Amino acid sequence: MNITIIEHPLVRHKLSLMREADCSTYRFRTLTKELARLMAYEASRDFATEVFTLQGWCGDIEAHRIKGKTVTIVPILRAGLGMLDGVLDLIPTAKISVVGLQRDEETLQPVSYFEKFVDDMDKRPALIIDPMLATGGSMVATIDLLKKKGCKNIKALVLVAAPEGVKVVNEAHPDVTIYTAALDSHLNENGYIIPGLGDAGDKIFGTK
Ligand code: URA
Repeated sequence: MNITIIEHPLVRHKLSLMREADCSTYRFRTLTKELARLMAYEASRDFATEVFTLQGWCGDIEAHRIKGKTVTIVPILRAGLGMLDGVLDLIPTAKISVVGLQRDEETLQPVSYFEKFVDDMDKRPALIIDPMLATGGSMVATIDLLKKKGCKNIKALVLVAAPEGVKVVNEAHPDVTIYTAALDSHLNENGYIIPGLGDAGDKIFGTK
């Protein structure tokens, strides 16, 4: 399985706080952002760097910088927006591409109702963000869209993943690494991750 479970005491602690039934909107939103920030650190660990010469205070020195075009962060609407600021805290120069998906009532497959990509998608790493990887349908559809734009280096960052969704994404796109804070037990009959977080979009936005 192409999945990295981010084992870090702060990640475990913050995710546990989010699982509390009476977690307030403010607290859930804040924790989503904090977790996204911590997890982006891990997900960017293998970003390519290059050496360049920098004029330092004592003369020229060998320094390092991220190589190539800036990463594009890809929030999946709407819940993915809750993770955006946390990732931007770490990568403030990132470009943002946005994908919105809805279920086709006949095929039951996710179809795009909104997509706005930055330029040079074929030259940038892409980091998809969505708090919940449940059935995997939206994630696969988003990766399909990114690959159509020429993206070659794609990662997915989720807070909680279900084994069913991981399998679907891994089978469709074995080259895409999924980063998650937790691999939970299973999906229930309504497609919710158990134990999961409930409806992450509703909890981030305060809707019901
Ligand atoms: N989306 C959510 O917000 N929660 C789940 O458990 C599954 C999908």
